[in-house]
Amino acid sequence: MPVAPAVSPRTPVDLDRVRSAAVAARVLGPLVAQGAIVRRPRATAWAERRQTDRAAGALLRDLRREHDGAPVVLRLGPRRLVLPLDAGDVGALLAGSPDPFSPATVEKRAALGHFEPDSVLISPTDRRPARRLLNEQALDTSEPVHRDADALLAAVDREAAALLAEVDRTGVLDWPTFAPAFWRTVRTVVLGESARDDHRVTDVLWTLRRAANWAYLHPRRPRLRAELADRLHAYVRRAEPGSLIAHAAAAQRDRGVDPVGQVPQWLFAFDAAGAAVLRALAVAAARPAVRERLRGEARSGSSMQPYARGAVLESVRLWPTTLVVLRDSTAPTTWGRRELPGGTSFAIVSAFAHRDAERLDFADAWSPEAWLDGRADADWGLLPFSGGPVSCPGRNVVLLVAGRLLARLSEADLVLPRGRYLATDPLPATFDHYGARFHVPGRG
Ligand code: HEM
Repeated sequence: MPVAPAVSPRTPVDLDRVRSAAVAARVLGPLVAQGAIVRRPRATAWAERRQTDRAAGALLRDLRREHDGAPVVLRLGPRRLVLPLDAGDVGALLAGSPDPFSPATVEKRAALGHFEPDSVLISPTDRRPARRLLNEQALDTSEPVHRDADALLAAVDREAAALLAEVDRTGVLDWPTFAPAFWRTVRTVVLGESARDDHRVTDVLWTLRRAANWAYLHPRRPRLRAELADRLHAYVRRAEPGSLIAHAAAAQRDRGVDPVGQVPQWLFAFDAAGAAVLRALAVAAARPAVRERLRGEARSGSSMQPYARGAVLESVRLWPTTLVVLRDSTAPTTWGRRELPGGTSFAIVSAFAHRDAERLDFADAWSPEAWLDGRADADWGLLPFSGGPVSCPGRNVVLLVAGRLLARLSEADLVLPRGRYLATDPLPATFDHYGARFHVPGRG
């Protein structure tokens, strides 16, 4: 990662009421409507029809021009929300996390507290280190290929083969066919072979996530949360070889951290990997050259699969799954000539940062190469897995598992009827993965 400034040289600018309302309506509204924790299909379909990320990006670009790149400040009732619009300021926030820029924001605690109150992501700063370390040890954060990759990939290959057989029979691949196979894969990878058909564990989590979308506005569901914890404890005790939870159980012995506090985030976050795979698969279906490169890696059977990893990263860059990256300051921070009080909220709008055509020559183009040659990773403005000390510790596991699934599924002769929008650049700003429906010509 490049070195980011500790504080920004630019002085944040307060937006007037009209501009604040415009940002709330055009930028924040669509993000909230789609659901921060679990996407709402009707809202994502609406967002795609309206290409809401394009309008949001245009407004933020105008504001950046008007204010010479300075962060802009919105008043939302009693609270102040700062939007950094410059990649250097994004870097300052990420590099300065978790202190003074804590990821455990008021909103995130309200939402994630529904199903993972002990997750590192919403932990107080003093509780973070041991929890972060448990995640890093179990997920092999620093290793491109997890030490249990053979077992993890074997699970992916099995489920991909079963899904391809079903697609071959029915002639259709869409979210309703993809999701059950995907969750079987995730349960096996995370919890072990015996969890493959434990729909209940992911259904309970899904129900809690739906409540989490409403943050404070939905009452807590203590009985469901207890059921989730009981089920996860049983898998920790089993610690099936070849599962991620077995590594968490082993790390627990060194760290004294209960993995059950961390594992809901793993299951929840894999959902994003499913969306990323379907979107990348849609690009591959529309672009024969992309499909051929993925097929080549599927045939090689190697666990490195650089192009497939780049394709997953590119899918999350183009259509981010973490819609905003939030931080609350734990102390006063200095931005140019202004000091912002502790407790100020910051929000990085991922799609705006990732599609910044004034800065990136590949902003709206399909460019896995930018990940392969290191350009994208060197850029603080590209944060599909966040950046700095709070970046996603699951990134490499995701790229391993999702990359392999993508490569395997690209072996099918899929056609996406509305794929002509994806065949050439620029790519659409908003892409509803729930709506992707592939056909296999001559089948079904
Ligand atoms: C495509 C899939 C995924 C994406 C795009 C993604 C992205 C992210 C992002 C952006 C953050 C940081 C949020 C912030 O800075 O506030 C994050 C945090 C985290 N992610 Fe992921 N993630 C994915 C999947 C996973 C998976 C599968 C796991 C575990 C197996 C995981 C584990 C975590 C954990 C534990 C954190 C909290 C880190 C901390 O607070 O130190 N993620 N992820």
